[in-house]
Amino acid sequence: MDKRPVGVFDSGLGGLSTVRAMKKILPNEDIVYFGDTGRVPYGSRSNETIETYAAQDIKFLRSFSCKMIVAACGTVSTAASSVIERIQEPATGITKPSAKAAALATKNNIIGVMGTSATVNSNAFEEEIRKTNPNAKVVSVACPMLVSLVENNWIDINDEVANAAVKRYLRPILEAGADTVILGCTHFPILAPIIQKAAGGYVKLIDTGYEEALYVKEVLKENNLENSAEHKGNQQYFVSDKTQNFCDVANVLLGEDIEDKCQFIDIFKFI
Ligand code: DGL
Repeated sequence: MDKRPVGVFDSGLGGLSTVRAMKKILPNEDIVYFGDTGRVPYGSRSNETIETYAAQDIKFLRSFSCKMIVAACGTVSTAASSVIERIQEPATGITKPSAKAAALATKNNIIGVMGTSATVNSNAFEEEIRKTNPNAKVVSVACPMLVSLVENNWIDINDEVANAAVKRYLRPILEAGADTVILGCTHFPILAPIIQKAAGGYVKLIDTGYEEALYVKEVLKENNLENSAEHKGNQQYFVSDKTQNFCDVANVLLGEDIEDKCQFIDIFKFI
């Protein structure tokens, strides 16, 4: 039994899709979340900058003596994977668990990947999918505007702009005939109802937050790091800019008011 929290981070709100799944799958675990809202988006930046930001985010989480570090950010997981590999504690990103889930789910071997520009340029999902399914054809599309839609709370299933943007980004993936689509940026599971509507019911969406949470459970179990079954998990949220916008979206997404659990931190102190 290990009472230490699990540290989860993202460039902003997207990692809450992992937290949402962790609260269901790992109800006994305490979570410390950091959303780098002052510096979002990461996905249009250079790999060097993403690595620097990720290292600072991890340093902040390590100040809580976390038993595991979870990069709930597709951009960090793919474009700055070396930073995750260097973490001393057990750690993961979203790439491996979701690529494996997609490689096993596809029936026609055509897989779409929606991600940020940094993620698509890294080819990381494609390489990881091929380890499980060498015959898969992978069609990757950079969808940077979807990150802004989520950060600005334009996430309602009837939102005209969100629906139009999703349709446009999905077009090449659907034209290629993909039957499985990885939501390769953790902001995108938040738009899953809109993406599913545009893709059609026959397309299987891989929710990277959910797949990552399942993997975290596996790692905690294997390493004997689980908290007591009697413990009710708490969450603490930290952001690097004002808390209001983050809380507005988080309240909807997590189905609870997190305002009392959310505070600002100066990430520049963690260099
Ligand atoms: N949630 C991040 C990701 O998974 C958002 C992208 C960004 O900051 O550009 O890639």
